[in-house]
Amino acid sequence: MDLRGRTAIVTGAARGIGAAIAGALVADGARVVIGDILDGEGEELAERLGDGAVYVHLDVTDSAHWQAALAEAERLFGPVSVLVNNAGIVEFGGIADQPADSFRRVIDINLYGAWLGMRTALPSLRRAGGGCIVNISSTAGLMGYANLGAYTASKWGLRGLTKTAALELAADGVRVCSVHPGPIRTPMTSGMDDSLTAGQPIPRFGEPEEVAQMVHFIITRATYSTGSEFVVDGGAATGITPPVNPST
Ligand SMILES: NC(=O)c1ccc[n+]([C@@H]2O[C@H](COP(=O)([O-])OP(=O)(O)OC[C@H]3O[C@@H](n4cnc5c(N)ncnc54)[C@H](O)[C@@H]3O)[C@@H](O)[C@H]2O)c1
Repeated sequence: MDLRGRTAIVTGAARGIGAAIAGALVADGARVVIGDILDGEGEELAERLGDGAVYVHLDVTDSAHWQAALAEAERLFGPVSVLVNNAGIVEFGGIADQPADSFRRVIDINLYGAWLGMRTALPSLRRAGGGCIVNISSTAGLMGYANLGAYTASKWGLRGLTKTAALELAADGVRVCSVHPGPIRTPMTSGMDDSLTAGQPIPRFGEPEEVAQMVHFIITRATYSTGSEFVVDGGAATGITPPVNPST
């Protein structure tokens, strides 16, 4: 897809991975609606990105917010060709002790929010003549993590929903893919230290731009991929390297 003049919506784009995705799409000529609940940071980013970007207050769990964001996107830029469901939160808790409202909140934002976004954007994607949806899942959508039950459930759910959407929207000319980042340096991981990545084949945190490059590739180049999983994790989900002594 040639992004020049195309309209994109990126959720959770005021900072972190979403901000890098918005930047990469604007740099390639797209006109981007930055949706988030962090109004100050979102407005600042839109200003930095210039005429190709606008900020809208969008809580992804709110249907009325989605309707308003889509209307604003169409009014300013035209029908939406690209939707990136990136907004997400992480809340820790074991199965035995995570409060129910915490579990529900994570599912609500990470999974229900993306479902609501896809269904609300679909008429606009049809008016655009097709396009691409990218759902930001995680390595937590490929394997389990202790004390992250809600988060892993939401990210596996998003991976599954991506495949169903790919089947349902193919006739509309819409490709739908999921992206699975490993540990990326953003405000979400600010409390985590480098030991987290020590066992990875590429033993460091990734940068938001490295995820953005993959998202950009999926939208513009991955013309034969839909329902597919794209992993950006320094090898984190590849397996475990046990400390084997070859002489024993
Ligand atoms: N950072 C990582 O290591 C990592 C790894 C795998 C997946 N991810 C996923 O990448 C995505 C972006 O994460 P990040 O690391 O940039 O985190 P972040 O916390 O820096 O950014 C998340 C953004 O989502 C926004 N948001 C939260 N709730 C929202 C809501 N209800 N409506 C709209 N926006 C909302 C936040 O305000 C924030 O701007 C998330 O879906 C996250 O689960 C991150």
